[in-house]
Amino acid sequence: MHENTSEITDIILNAKERAIKETSREPEPELTKPINWPVECVVGPGLEGAIACETRIGYVNGSKGWLIYRGYNIFDLCAYATFEEVSYLLMYGYLPSNTQLAAFKKKLVEYRSTHQTKRLLMSFPIEKMKPMAALRLGTNLMRQEFTDVDSDNYLSNVVRIIAADEDSIPMETKPRGEEHAIYEFKRQQREHMIKEDLKHATGFESCFHLLSGVASLTGAIARLRCGKMPVEHDPDLSFAGNLIFTMTGKKPTAIEERIMDVSLILHADHGMNASTFAAMVVASTLSDVYLSVGAGIAALQGPLHGGANERVIEMLQEIGNEENVPAWFEKKHVKKEKIMGFGHRVYKSYDPRALVLGPLAKYMTKENKESKRLYKIAKALEKEVVKTLGAQKRIFPNVDFYSGIVYSSMGIEADFFTPLFAVSRVAGWTARVQEYLRNNRIFRPRAMYVGPYDKEFTFIENRGRNIKT
Ligand code: ACO
Repeated sequence: MHENTSEITDIILNAKERAIKETSREPEPELTKPINWPVECVVGPGLEGAIACETRIGYVNGSKGWLIYRGYNIFDLCAYATFEEVSYLLMYGYLPSNTQLAAFKKKLVEYRSTHQTKRLLMSFPIEKMKPMAALRLGTNLMRQEFTDVDSDNYLSNVVRIIAADEDSIPMETKPRGEEHAIYEFKRQQREHMIKEDLKHATGFESCFHLLSGVASLTGAIARLRCGKMPVEHDPDLSFAGNLIFTMTGKKPTAIEERIMDVSLILHADHGMNASTFAAMVVASTLSDVYLSVGAGIAALQGPLHGGANERVIEMLQEIGNEENVPAWFEKKHVKKEKIMGFGHRVYKSYDPRALVLGPLAKYMTKENKESKRLYKIAKALEKEVVKTLGAQKRIFPNVDFYSGIVYSSMGIEADFFTPLFAVSRVAGWTARVQEYLRNNRIFRPRAMYVGPYDKEFTFIENRGRNIKT
């Protein structure tokens, strides 16, 4: 690790100490046992409390404020690992050796080149599109560059896969003796063929294409939006460094590169959140990983999910200065309006990601007057909200509260905060999709029908009079 970034490591380790101290009295985790299906659980609206699958990828303990990836706590990963190592960890389940990491990085560099996709993107009015919409479009275009999923050839392969499915062979026709040996031989050939066929659109390679590709497209979209040509990545920079470089056209400092890396690690995975669930639902239909990631991007852009960080900056600008905070908050509180960047479905203590990003925002803004002003307003607002809503409803800052301040201090525009979140979350989406596909079952919850069921049919000429629904 670069020498002058050791201060950042100290900030992360201090956040770890604070997290341990503040939640030491909270109960130990509950949801860590293998599931014995069918499982009983209490489900609230929005599937709150529902258990959909087992996972080994990540764990969020809302009361203790823990975030764990593959057994490692988020603070240690931020302090001692890089985003490339963490992406590898999420996908494969273990931290890479030097040789494995070098090979993985080489692959990611190779997959950064998405020339055809960028050319295609440039034929769309990117400057008029929201970056998340452009990113979603770009992900679809990448699917065409890297796969042949929509070609006739691919479709015939898919038909072969379905035809070769074990379930399509009735039990009574299962061969015996010599025929069985031939059957087994052909079955192995079929399995090999299925693996080859799926490699292009659903396998690990596609996941790595997406990991590098979504980052590369984010850089290109940032440039195209302000009428500039995309810049080529720099082979000497890390994944995080290239992200800043390709977005801003400026080489990042070691501190900026390190902080972007930490931010990518913090956003990489977070349980069955809305975008991860959206990606998994699409994958569970045996669609493909490009379209799954597209669904994740679509879900992430909403203001109740990843879109909140952009709104936080708007909110801080609206407040204007720290003296205005108490009156501004009081007004919102009375009207029961939501404060962006606060609250979480799972965390009922400090979000550990906010514990890291808060001090990093302070560190990054110390030299810049405008960013410092925003940070001071944020700190004052945090105090007000925690004093009131923290005590009443266990509402604390979430990951989105400080991330925008960190990014804007690096010169990144507010409408790119959520795309940055997406770049990182591709690691979690794809790892979880791959894990789920190993024991895939199509997602199919039910809705309770509460409408009428005995209405008499109304002919068109009689409609519109005395309508009752
Ligand atoms: N400000 C004020 N009150 C809040 C907030 C908030 N940010 N969040 C929740 N509450 C209150 C609600 O008004 C509600 O109060 P009530 O019980 O008196 O009606 C109670 O807390 C529960 O809120 P819900 O919206 O039901 O909680 P839910 O778990 O469904 O929502 C969510 C979680 C969407 C994150 C919510 O806290 C919110 O809207 N926060 C603001 C948006 C935001 O910051 N989103 C980013 C989340 S992190 C992420 O997705 C990466």
